[in-house]
Amino acid sequence: MELKGCRGFAGWYSVLTLCLLSFIYMSSTSASEEDPPSSSSAAIISRFQHYLQINTVQPNPKYHEAADFLLAQAKSLSLESQTIEFVEGKPVVLLKWPGSDPSLPSILLNSHTDVVQVEQHKWTHHPFAAHLDSQGNIYARGSQDMKCVGLQYLEAIRRLKASGFRPLRSVYLSFVPDEEIGGHDGAEKFAKSDIFDDLNVGVVLDEGLASPNEHYRAFYGERSPWSLVIKATGAPGHGSKLYDNSAMENLLKSIESIWRFRASQFDLVKAGLKAEGEVISVNMAFLKAGTPSPTGFVMNLQPSEAEAGFDIRVPPNGDPEALERRIAEEWAPASRNMTFRLGQFKAKVSVLDKSGRPIITATDSTNPWWNLLEEAVRKANGKLGKPEIFPASTDARYFRERGLPAIGFSPMANTPILLHDHNEFLNKDEYLKGIEAYESIIEAYASYVEKASGGDGSRDEL
Ligand SMILES: *[C@@H]1O[C@H](CO)[C@@H](O)[C@H](O)[C@H]1NC(C)=O
Ligand SMILES: [Zn+2]
Repeated sequence: MELKGCRGFAGWYSVLTLCLLSFIYMSSTSASEEDPPSSSSAAIISRFQHYLQINTVQPNPKYHEAADFLLAQAKSLSLESQTIEFVEGKPVVLLKWPGSDPSLPSILLNSHTDVVQVEQHKWTHHPFAAHLDSQGNIYARGSQDMKCVGLQYLEAIRRLKASGFRPLRSVYLSFVPDEEIGGHDGAEKFAKSDIFDDLNVGVVLDEGLASPNEHYRAFYGERSPWSLVIKATGAPGHGSKLYDNSAMENLLKSIESIWRFRASQFDLVKAGLKAEGEVISVNMAFLKAGTPSPTGFVMNLQPSEAEAGFDIRVPPNGDPEALERRIAEEWAPASRNMTFRLGQFKAKVSVLDKSGRPIITATDSTNPWWNLLEEAVRKANGKLGKPEIFPASTDARYFRERGLPAIGFSPMANTPILLHDHNEFLNKDEYLKGIEAYESIIEAYASYVEKASGGDGSRDEL
């Protein structure tokens, strides 16, 4: 694998340089008497705003600006740092807080630096102004997804360092590009790299979702995205003629069948029997048929081809083989002259691991990291809801595919879910509370010593 612009760990700053750099940082900040101490709420919020103001919107994120900001933060915290470009122009910023026992598996705190597009005119405040309103809401693209988390990790470390805490296990932070476009040049390459192997990661934290109620949400698996295109063919004919097996008729039969299936899944959610992430979702993404004319479509002609596309999400326990059979036999049967294509995602993201087991992280006593998270959140006066399957996809899947436990967690309670929506915001008090949650979690994770009898089960506890 080509590693452009990679500075190895050997090239990391010497202790002397680090002392010098932190000295320079301290003297430069203390030079201005007006500045609040870096631990004050005002300074914490202003750093969050600064990160949000860096325009890392797809498809042309200012990745280097974000990397420079993160590296400056790392320097101020005396963390070791390196920047890896698996693909040129798409830096992964990797920070390290070394543990006192490097032989123990480490903790990885992952976040992505890119954000999704905005429809700027639909926003009340500019999406990259990070405007703080009188209620304490900070408006910005990325305030929930997920610049909050990336910086909360760093702020939690700042507090832990100030309190004199020394980690037993090494703590790594990865800031990865391109999550919003599939993570292939970011987390995927990182998780498959030799650099990643060398980190000896034992557990990964990654993004979750905001919660409208008082319970934080935690995610232990995710649905796999499939894209399905079905195509019908049939004899063309005059628009006035009634005949069987036209392309339109054949396609409509499939759509009816798909819609019945969709309703059966949705009913389970509506009845409260299953959570959103536990059912197979199917939604129509496009319909393509008809013969174009200068004013629209030719109306007196029944076309010989008709196509429809669907976004399908398959939960880890969703029986992908049964679904493929259903597609071949009911949704696009050859007997109705139908064909289908399962799109690009299908091949890349499986819900099953190599041994055919669902790729999920255990959320019971077999997974010590889950118990530690629950306890740590409680200690920070937070409440944790029932663990869930993430309804969409995140980078966490690349770490789970490596056989690692990975928990999706973005501590935002009492917050409307606005990721990818207009006017995305996070309240500053929720943001500050989230830092306390991470302080508690990182302390618990970095200090964790396995019970003598248990053995290091982390790699088996999927
Ligand atoms: C399928 O195509 C064949 C050949 O064109 C045709 O004879 C048959 O009626 C079609 N069947 C259906 C169900 O559309
Ligand atoms: Zn995200």
